[in-house]
Amino acid sequence: MGLFSASHLTYPNSHRFLSHAYKAYNHTGADIAVSVRDLHVSLGGQSVLRGVNLHLHRGQLVALIGPNGSGKTTLLRAVVGLQKPDTGEVRLLGENNIQKALPRVGYVPQRFVPDRSFILSVREFLALRLRETQSWFWHRHRDTDDRLMADMAELGVESLLDRPIAALSGGQLQRVLIVFALLKRPELLILDEPTAGVDSPGEKTFYDLIGEIHRRRKLTVVLVSHDLSMVYRHASWVYALNGVVCCEGSPEQVMNADALKETYGLNISQHHHIGHPF
Ligand SMILES: Nc1ncnc2c1ncn2[C@@H]1O[C@H](COP(=O)(O)OP(=O)(O)OP(=O)(O)O)[C@@H](O)[C@H]1O
Ligand SMILES: [Mg+2]
Repeated sequence: MGLFSASHLTYPNSHRFLSHAYKAYNHTGADIAVSVRDLHVSLGGQSVLRGVNLHLHRGQLVALIGPNGSGKTTLLRAVVGLQKPDTGEVRLLGENNIQKALPRVGYVPQRFVPDRSFILSVREFLALRLRETQSWFWHRHRDTDDRLMADMAELGVESLLDRPIAALSGGQLQRVLIVFALLKRPELLILDEPTAGVDSPGEKTFYDLIGEIHRRRKLTVVLVSHDLSMVYRHASWVYALNGVVCCEGSPEQVMNADALKETYGLNISQHHHIGHPF
């Protein structure tokens, strides 16, 4: 069967490998945060996703890995309703109607480059997220200020509150976008390559931070990462994508050199300390 045959990593028994925090496996599906069935997406005449199936359990920190162009961003966009699939089904936080679930989801896209003319400060930008602050430009509420400050401090960017959004560095902007995504206390946080704008010395701390937020807030987190050492340390489940789900399992299972070698033609044991195997 070759490329996609890593059957020992796939269902039906994969929940056996979850840490005991997730052992309360519920066959009704109530513990599933995201369910994708036989998803097909074509872009520009090219078949990008070719029958993707995945089931993300609530409370997990799930890493989505795969080479450039393997459809990771396309899959996440389909999950949050930004990309219409050709065929297939997405269920988000128990809803077939994705729009209905979106208020409970925080999504940080891979690329968000604010235009130079984007004149809002970080504080004003974040206030847009909070319903109670819709008249906030004229009327600052102390509670709101406190809440923004607490969330900014959690991401270590509290000193940036009055800076213009357009003047932030890539890494600072990523963190502010995560604060934006967290402000509504989502049940599910989706991060598409959260370290794209973070330089490598800052990267480890950044992933540790995401790990802490995941534990403290008891969130489900899905993140795209090319950093396998991060995946080892923080992910409870891993999906490897290449147009289809090539393999899934615990980090140890998916990083198994044979499985990924089979999938990507790479010797992962030579790479996983380096961080960017793809
Ligand atoms: N709007 C588009 N029109 C045509 N093709 C597209 C479009 N968006 C993406 N693609 C193609 O779809 C494929 C999957 O892209 P996608 O961005 O989902 O990959 P990815 O796994 O997120 O890659 P990366 O690791 O580089 O972020 C690529 O071949 C890409 O060129
Ligand atoms: Mg991408």
